[in-house]
Amino acid sequence: ALRERERMMEAHLFLQRFYHHLLVHTKEGQEALDYLQKRGFTKEIIEEFQIGYAPASRDAALTVLRKRGFPQDLLEKAGIIVKREEEDAYFDRFRGRIMFPIHDPGGNTVAFSGRSLSDAAPKYLNSPETKIFQKGRILFNFHRARPKIRKKGAAVLFEGFADCISAYRAGIDNGISVMGTSLTEEHVRLIRRNTDLVILCFDGDSAGKRAAVRAGEMLRQGGCQVRVAALPEGLDPDEYIARYGPEKFRRDVIENSLTLIAYKMQLFREGKNLADEGERARYIEEVQKELASLDSPVEQEIYLRQLADEFSLSLDALKENQRKIQRAKR
Ligand code: UTP
Ligand code: MN
Ligand code: MN
Ligand code: MN
Ligand code: MN
Repeated sequence: ALRERERMMEAHLFLQRFYHHLLVHTKEGQEALDYLQKRGFTKEIIEEFQIGYAPASRDAALTVLRKRGFPQDLLEKAGIIVKREEEDAYFDRFRGRIMFPIHDPGGNTVAFSGRSLSDAAPKYLNSPETKIFQKGRILFNFHRARPKIRKKGAAVLFEGFADCISAYRAGIDNGISVMGTSLTEEHVRLIRRNTDLVILCFDGDSAGKRAAVRAGEMLRQGGCQVRVAALPEGLDPDEYIARYGPEKFRRDVIENSLTLIAYKMQLFREGKNLADEGERARYIEEVQKELASLDSPVEQEIYLRQLADEFSLSLDALKENQRKIQRAKR
């Protein structure tokens, strides 16, 4: 079985090189290369991340791997080929896609994610769960970022790996991302073993905001300190960098991150008219309920003072309300 895992990884490494070669050096890969260049992927980035292209043919990968002596059933178990029942024949899982290799923490290539050149669904096709690839355990770019994460004492967690790659180009070399699933306890442990500070930088849409809060809470539960680098409505990190440049991204987004509480306060505000007494009271109540989850009374007081200042309320009244909320909670 050990041998099987090794052979699966060898097949993935071989394919990574095959796809990369097709992208960079052949006519078949030209359209994909143009697409990547239009999106700002440089030669260096394509090299560093070993990005490739899977040709539109139905069995290009199968053919080259079989020639190298990899048995079909192993390739099927590795998620590289798929059996078409009606015909009793195998074909390549990835066809006509830009290929991003996925590595385990040891740097072995264990899976791929293939992006369609058009936005045809699915936009990204991922390898299935296999013996060597469990989405709940793998973080994109982790093997490359780990030493930087340790050195900087912080990791930046993105929602998508396009964001992770763009951020890397923008000088953020401690970035990682999940693989199209939500963050798991396993991911949290993997991160926590290497750092206690995580900066979340998710897409600036409603799904991204919700995911950031959920991930933030899990990371806090898991013993991490959490900051949230919020993006303007509708932009993801990759789009932000393309529009405003790397310097502004580092300065105004990453270095300008908020505590999880401050981020939630910002979300509670959205869509509320705080000039209206009723909505203002509702906002304050929401914030105070949230503050009940803070262990530190000092930290609590910092936010209570902010509320008192902003809305010209007495700190005593807010503290009294806070005690009421905490009592009700117990
Ligand atoms: P997004 O839809 O935000 O994609 O999904 P993206 O990262 O911005 O990609 P581009 O810029 O359009 O190329 C975020 C992440 O969700 C997963 C991928 O891991 C992606 O990076 N995803 C998304 C899938 O697995 N499959 C999909 O069809 C779409
Ligand atoms: Mn190369
Ligand atoms: Mn998204
Ligand atoms: Mn996105
Ligand atoms: Mn994007």
